[in-house]
Order: sequence, then structure tokens, then C-alpha cells
Amino acid sequence: MVAYSTDDAGIPAPHDGLSQSVGPNGPLLLQDHFLIQKMAHFNRERVPERVVHAKGGGAFGELEITEDVSQYTRADLFQKGRKTPLLLRFSTVAGELGSADTARDPRGFALKFYTEQGNYDIVGNNTPIFFIRDPSKFSDFIHSQKRRADNQLRDNNMQWDFWTLNPESAHQVSFLMTDRGTPKTWRHMHGFGSHTFMWYNANGEKFWVKYHFKTEQGIENLTAAEAKAMEAEDPDAHRRDLWESIKRGDYPAWTVNVQIMPFEEAADYRFNPFDLTKVWPHSDYPEITIGRFVLNRNPENYFAEIEQAAFEPSNLVPGVAGSPDKMLQGRLFSYPDTHRYRIGPNYLQLPVNRPKSPVRSYNYDGPMAYYNNPDPVYAPNTAGGPEAQPDLFKGEEYHVAGEIVRSAYTLHKEDDDFGQARTLWEKVLSDTDRANMVDNIVGHASAPEVTDDMKKRVVEYWTNIHPDLGGGVAKGLGVQQA
Ligand code: NDP
Ligand code: HEM
Repeated sequence: MVAYSTDDAGIPAPHDGLSQSVGPNGPLLLQDHFLIQKMAHFNRERVPERVVHAKGGGAFGELEITEDVSQYTRADLFQKGRKTPLLLRFSTVAGELGSADTARDPRGFALKFYTEQGNYDIVGNNTPIFFIRDPSKFSDFIHSQKRRADNQLRDNNMQWDFWTLNPESAHQVSFLMTDRGTPKTWRHMHGFGSHTFMWYNANGEKFWVKYHFKTEQGIENLTAAEAKAMEAEDPDAHRRDLWESIKRGDYPAWTVNVQIMPFEEAADYRFNPFDLTKVWPHSDYPEITIGRFVLNRNPENYFAEIEQAAFEPSNLVPGVAGSPDKMLQGRLFSYPDTHRYRIGPNYLQLPVNRPKSPVRSYNYDGPMAYYNNPDPVYAPNTAGGPEAQPDLFKGEEYHVAGEIVRSAYTLHKEDDDFGQARTLWEKVLSDTDRANMVDNIVGHASAPEVTDDMKKRVVEYWTNIHPDLGGGVAKGLGVQQA
């Protein structure tokens, strides 16, 4: 027998398709609370989409740590042999909920680990770097990638305007303009924590760390033409690919690598190790494999488990901490703030966001509060209520002193805006990669709205990285290289 349908209060539904009326042809009745609930709930089906990274998809899986890194971190999830359930959400950045998966854009790579000591989130991208190094530029940067205020159109002139006026973007825009800016699927790309984080061990010794998640499927990209064609053919190509590969038991996996820098080396390192526009070259800090993770379970309900998933770089468990990276510092505020707005102040009580370890917080009530709090609801108390564990955090403290200023980072020996992008062009990219990169830039900067003056600035921007690169772009755009 088929189960009976109900309204949201569990009352058996009188009908699944007929509203109550005065006679078969008469007007409808306000007393039909079944109809009223159905229509009123429908009107509230959406939460606001994410202000960035709106289009995405995700799946659940498991992290397994295979190496002993207890000399670097006391974090429970990173102890050898530990297995931790996780959620990974992939996304594009600038497009809206219905936008195409294969657009040229960085890809979000947001991990939530449900550890024994609460949730640890690494909210990264598929690139190890970013466009800017100060959070006060973030909303301006995003506005330049989103739609114009007047006609609600995307505008490549606006994008180049922002990038050329902010030369620290050069390294990230270089990645974006290679074919890695259009990955074939989410399974065929790496992930990066991007920022520098702190690890500290049980003795309170600290280290700086960067995370690299290397795809075990291999890197595969689309050419600009293939990506464009796929936008029309299947705008949900990446969401579909992930869903279907997990459904058929072809579980994607990533190797988890870290780079470790002893705490004291940061001060004199040749690059500012906290500058998000820079990598740490492998020759200085090689990658060490510590484990792997696999995605093996699709969500059962996309809205509940993916749309309402709330990732926050501020979810840092004992053994890991932030760093002086100004972008990271800004993000520690931004994500919990947007979740309180987008989902509501008790977003952490939703099943997908709720830790799998005990929650004994003294925060309570608010809209949609679901869980019982300990009684008494204040700390300290004499009733034997839960107590904080300061010993778990010994190690995260470090000395800082200085004037309160508004200033760029002080430069380290080899800091500039173009050097690492130049290394990418000169030493890492193949001839085909370089040719495609030039074509991709030319294609992007040839949009009808890009002005002649802007094209000159575009050529200058790429010439700063390498004269050959600038020359190729100048030729493609039909502009004289200065
Ligand atoms: P390495 O030669 O040791 O590393 C080069 C890195 O680039 C590898 O991680 C490689 O791994 C990755 N890579 C290869 N092809 C591309 C591509 N087409 N687009 C982007 N990345 C690619 O040199 P260094 O560590 O000294 O770094 C040199 C430059 O490489 C950097 O300036 C940076 O631009 C880039 N890079 C560096 C990374 C780092 O963390 N050090 C990470 C990624 C890029 P894989 O093919 O598996 O991605
Ligand atoms: C999403 C802000 C930089 C990766 C978001 C969201 C905001 C935001 C408000 C929407 C979150 C939501 O509604 O759930 C910022 C600010 C930044 C910044 C203020 C800089 C100061 C970065 C960087 C990265 C990144 C550097 C990667 C290294 C992501 C990802 C998501 C996201 C992956 C989507 C998370 C998900 O899947 O739900 N960001 N961001 N952001 N951001 Fe950032």
C-alpha cells in the first residue's frame, strides 16, 4: 500500500490536486489551510543564493590519514590512521545559480571535515593563489566580475579594468587564462587551501602549512572552444559528471599533501609567505603526502545538504589556526556573517552543518532553534556545566607588535607582482599551454565592450610578466606593444 501524504503538520492530506471550493465551479475558501500552506510554503522555497560561488554541486566522502604528522599538529583529524567523514562542494565563482559549469572562472573547492573535535572547514579553490591580497578589495573585485548596475550584463572591460589597476592579480589571472581556467570536470582538477595556516603540536611547537589536494583522476581541461560549446550543450555538465560517477561507483579521490615551513623561517623567507598571490616554490618547501580522501556518496536532497551547506574558514579545530594572511583574516569574519544572513543564525543546527561530535555551547535560542542547551545556560556556573579546554589551544599564540596603520605588506627580498607568474610562463607551461593562454586572453579581451585604450593596458599587463606573452597578446588584439 502507498503511504498517505500529509501536510507539514502531519495531518493526512484530503487531496493532492483539488482545492476546496463552493461547489465545483465556485470560489475557493480561505479555510482551506491545506491549500494556503502549500502556496505559502512555495513562496518561501528559496533562500538567497550565495553572493559568490552560487552555482555548484557536492558530495560526501572520507579522509584517511596515512602518515604520522603528530610532530607538526595535534589536530585529531590528522593523526595517523584516523578516518574522518567529509563534505566537498565545488562551484564556479561569478555566475548565478543557473549559470554554466564550464565558464572560465576559478573553481571553489570547499571541504568540511566532521572531526571528533568539531567541524574543520578548508574553504579553498582549484588554484593555490588569489587575485588580491587585502580583503578590503574583495567586494570591488567581485563587482567587476559580476553584472553591471545599469544593464545587468557581464562586462569584460570592467574585468580588465580591475585586473590592470591591481597588478597583484597577475599570477591568478595567468592561471585563469590557461586551460586550467576551464577544467573538464570537477574530478579532474586539484584543490588548494591556498592560504597559509598554522599547525601546532601537543608540545606547543608551531609551523606554517599549505594544503594541496592532488586529483588522482589526473588533470584534464577543456579548450576555450570546448568549454563554450559545453555551455550551450549542458550547462550542468560538471554537476552531472560528479553525480553520475559517484552513482556508478567510480569514486573520485584526491591525495592530501602539505608544505610545512618552520615558524621562524617566515620572517626572512624570500617571499612573504602570507601573501595569497604567491606560492611557496617546491624547491624550498617540498610537498609531503599525509593521506587521501575519496568522495563516495551523493546527497539525498540537494537543497538540504548542498544549498544549505555553510562553509567557514573560521571553523578551526585544536592543532590548526589562522595566520597573518590579511585575506584569511577577512574571511574569518565574512563567512559566518553571510550564513547568519543567508540561512539564519542557527545555521549550524541544520543536519549538514551540525558537527558529528557533541555540541555543548552556551549560545542559545534564536529563530528555528532546535537543540536543547545545557542547563544552566551561562558560564561559569557552580552546577557542573561544561568547561572550556584552554590546554588544547596551547601553541597558537604568537607575538605581534606595531603601529596601527593602513599599509601594504612590507616587501620580502623577492616580492613583486609578476615574478611568480613569469616563472609559470617560462618554466612550467608547455608550448601548447602558452599558445592556448595567449588565445584565451585574446578571446576574452576581444569582447565588443573592451575599449581600444583598455586593450593597450591589457598588453602592458601581460608584457610585465613576459615580453613574449605581451607580444602574443598584442598581435592577437591588433595593438602596438610599447
Ligand atoms: P615546480 O616545477 O616544483 O612546480 C610547478 C607546479 O605547477 C607543479 O605543482 C605542477 O603540478 C603545476 N603545474 C603544471 N602545469 C601547470 C599549469 N599549466 N598551470 C598551473 N600549474 C601547473 O615549481 P615551483 O614550485 O617553483 O613553482 C613554479 C610555478 O609553478 C609557480 O610560480 C606557480 O606559478 C606554479 N605553481 C606552483 C605551485 C606551488 O605550490 N609551488 C602549485 C601550482 C603551480 P601539477 O601539474 O600537478 O599541477
Ligand atoms: C564563498 C567571501 C576569498 C573560496 C564565499 C561567500 C562569501 C565569500 C561571502 C559566500 C558564502 C556562502 O554564502 O555560503 C569572501 C571574502 C574573501 C573571499 C570576503 C576575501 C576577503 C576567497 C578565497 C577563496 C574563497 C581566497 C579560496 C581560496 C570560496 C569558496 C566559496 C566561497 C570555495 C564557496 C563555499 C561553498 O561551497 O559554499 N566567499 N571570499 N574565497 N569562497 Fe570566498
